[in-house]
Amino acid sequence: MSDHYYTEKPTSESSPRLIEVNVLGRTFTLYSDSGVFSKSGLDKGTEVLIKNMPVEPSHRVLDWGTGLGIVGIAAATMAESGFVEMIDINERAVHLAQENLELNGIRNARAYQSNGFDKVQGTFDLIVSNPPFRAGKKVVHGLVEQAPDYLVSGGGLALVVQRKQGAESLTKKMEEVFGNVEVLDRSGGYRVLLSRKR
Ligand SMILES: C[S@@+](CC[C@H](N)C(=O)[O-])C[C@H]1O[C@@H](n2cnc3c(N)ncnc32)[C@H](O)[C@@H]1O
Repeated sequence: MSDHYYTEKPTSESSPRLIEVNVLGRTFTLYSDSGVFSKSGLDKGTEVLIKNMPVEPSHRVLDWGTGLGIVGIAAATMAESGFVEMIDINERAVHLAQENLELNGIRNARAYQSNGFDKVQGTFDLIVSNPPFRAGKKVVHGLVEQAPDYLVSGGGLALVVQRKQGAESLTKKMEEVFGNVEVLDRSGGYRVLLSRKR
């Protein structure tokens, strides 16, 4: 049986490769492999998220569900005096994300394995994610419910969602948990949603 990309230990045969992705006006080279999300190139939703995520130079950012690490790498590039933590449930993805930090000379970030927030400590100015909708609503809504515990006051949760993949229910959930939600962008069938901890 083929793996889901959100499995803890992918069993699909490893098939390492290098891919190039263009974000922030730069080309980043990434190690990729089978059994991880978006293994052949940048996902459109991820691209829209990176363009809109409100990362400031001193921010501490959590990239929740990092995959190959491109969101965290972009955030670390933007948060030049800050720090980025990148987590994923998938051990192969975490290994690749770590390698991709080294490959791209990113020193202000680290990647580690965590099922949701299980291993995450401390608080962040921003949590960003292209969430794993295929893993189910429970996982994605669980991320929204727990996020306030990991944000500083005024900190934000920025999520990208495909309009047809539950954008309305996610918007409602974020409004319910945070009491506010803003649409930062709606382009190419995607929405980038931001809630702030008051
Ligand atoms: C849609 S992919 C996005 C990957 C990457 N951020 C990108 O944009 O290319 C979602 C990621 O969430 C991870 N994931 C799924 N369930 C998770 C969980 N319970 N805890 C942490 N990560 C999870 C998956 O393994 C996957 O890498």
